[in-house]
Amino acid sequence: MKRYHPLLVALHWLLALMIIVALVMGSNVLAALPNDHPDKMFSLRGHMLIGITVGFLMILRLVTRLRSTHPPKADTGNGVLNLAGSAAHWVLYILIFLMVASGIGISIGAGLPDIVFFGSDAPLPESFDHLVPRTAHGVLSKLLMLTILAHIAGWAYHQFNLKDGLISRMWFGSRS
Ligand code: HEM
Repeated sequence: MKRYHPLLVALHWLLALMIIVALVMGSNVLAALPNDHPDKMFSLRGHMLIGITVGFLMILRLVTRLRSTHPPKADTGNGVLNLAGSAAHWVLYILIFLMVASGIGISIGAGLPDIVFFGSDAPLPESFDHLVPRTAHGVLSKLLMLTILAHIAGWAYHQFNLKDGLISRMWFGSRS
């Protein structure tokens, strides 16, 4: 088996794009706008839709991963690095699910579904900072950024140091 299931490959790249957009826009645009800014609602709606879609696609990806056959575990020739590689992938999954859960926590705590999606006239709260899930969402977002950087460093190590072209497993083509 040379490659991952094509659905896993497609979801990997789609999710990578959506998560990076959510991280970059979340910290640089959404969180920077005060809640009474005229653009806040538009930014929140976009962020929440992307975040919830990430949650659904991650469940689909997890199920596909557990049910499909995949290539043997990558071998760096170093037991510690192999273990770190496996652990980093599960940490990535856990952090993404925690991001979605804490985002939903902020949303419920601040009554956002009605305000953002279902036309309630209630104003947004002055800020979300008093909500525990908001603090968690901020801290988790930094941990997720670090884990994504570690993921990219792992790719660079395989690509340029080991030169084993591991990335081709996460692309489309013949699997046998
Ligand atoms: C993987 C999915 C997600 C990612 C990567 C993500 C990323 C972020 C980031 C980076 C921030 C700014 C954090 C900071 O600078 O302190 C943020 C804020 C926020 N996110 Fe998410 N988020 C995700 C999912 C969600 C979901 C599912 C919801 C709600 C349904 C949500 C609602 C919010 C809200 C309400 C804020 C606060 C904005 C503010 O303080 O004004 N997020 N998110």
